[in-house]
Amino acid sequence: MSGQPNVRYGMVGGGQGAFIGYVHRLAAQLDGKIELVCGAFSRDSDNCRQTGAELGLDPARCYIDFHEMMKAEAALPESERMQFVAIVTPNHVHYPVARAALEAGFHVLSDKPATLNLEEMQSLSQIIYDSGLAYGLTHTYLGYPLVSVAKEIVASGGIGKVRKVYAEYIQGWLATEVENKQAEWRTDPARSGASGCMGDIGTHAHNLAEYVTGKRMTHVAADLTVFVDGRRLDDDGSALFRMEDGVKGTLSASQICVGKENSLSLRVYGETGGLEWNQEEPNSLIRTYADRPTEIIRAGQGYLPESVQSHFRTPPGHPEGYIEAFANIYLEFAEVIKTNGGVKAGSTAALRGMAFIEALVESSNSNSAWTEIKT
Ligand SMILES: NC(=O)c1ccc[n+]([C@@H]2O[C@H](COP(=O)([O-])OP(=O)(O)OC[C@H]3O[C@@H](n4cnc5c(N)ncnc54)[C@H](O)[C@@H]3O)[C@@H](O)[C@H]2O)c1
Repeated sequence: MSGQPNVRYGMVGGGQGAFIGYVHRLAAQLDGKIELVCGAFSRDSDNCRQTGAELGLDPARCYIDFHEMMKAEAALPESERMQFVAIVTPNHVHYPVARAALEAGFHVLSDKPATLNLEEMQSLSQIIYDSGLAYGLTHTYLGYPLVSVAKEIVASGGIGKVRKVYAEYIQGWLATEVENKQAEWRTDPARSGASGCMGDIGTHAHNLAEYVTGKRMTHVAADLTVFVDGRRLDDDGSALFRMEDGVKGTLSASQICVGKENSLSLRVYGETGGLEWNQEEPNSLIRTYADRPTEIIRAGQGYLPESVQSHFRTPPGHPEGYIEAFANIYLEFAEVIKTNGGVKAGSTAALRGMAFIEALVESSNSNSAWTEIKT
């Protein structure tokens, strides 16, 4: 250990039976530099207490209410109190928690989609700006080092002027009516937002496409569908899109593709070459050329740029994946807090994501008319 103090955080959401809070905690602790010191894990007091006890937390720092957590933590000495709040609740709770945290002087690392709707994110952007605090969004897939490599290849002209993008995120877990904690709120407009599938996973595909190409998506023509009877939000959707500088593309997201797990893929083609990356095979990046054989760029290799070397923890061929990608996002956020620097997926990405959802829904409701993504 370097002797540097750990960065301390508190978590809202992620109680027993929750999905992503556990993943966040595994990732945050992976490198021994970030420490969970408190939480408001659930509104259920037993759940909250038990979650904290399992994690070995001081019971006095397991709060039933997140407002209470902000107040009590702010009253602790600066060297003890949490420094940032990780938000891992359903979408409708993101805004009130982020707001309360920022107003109490804490940085925020939120899961996506950033808020329930664009209006909330616009309001939050102002609060972030006024606070001068860091705000990060856990678009997990930006934490994969080969995604950064793809971005660098595009930015350095390695595939020529970008022309065409295919972004896809397909799953099968909502192919029938599902009764579990995760499905319950995701299919409820009051807790999920105006879109189900597109808000949940289409936003990842959108974020990845904009990140790797460095281009903003400007317009969509979308067709969202509810396939499962009685469901209130889309469980499937496709969109044509336009980006800056004449880039065109398609984006599909679905949760009814039977048997598919987490098939997120991005393919980008420029005038002289192409790139393909798939989340289920994240340690290979495929690079195509017009006049040379296809290359497979592999994770962990010494030939990769210096900028990504610190994002690998194991030698090539010992696969790294989801937890490590999340851990890279946590490490980067902790670094931002220490240095007051910029963050890869901050409030701009959050605004872009919320505007994307709003444009998709508007387009789909207008018979797939071309609709501007307004941010
Ligand atoms: N980045 C990713 O790859 C990724 C993956 C999955 C989920 N997510 C996002 O993470 C968030 C949580 O998703 P999930 O699948 O873990 O949901 P979940 O339903 O499994 O867990 C939500 C947790 O929040 C708690 N909670 C709800 N309201 C609360 C409140 N007011 N105070 C304290 N706790 C409260 C619940 O008790 C539960 O513990 C969502 O926004 C989702 O979109 C992101």
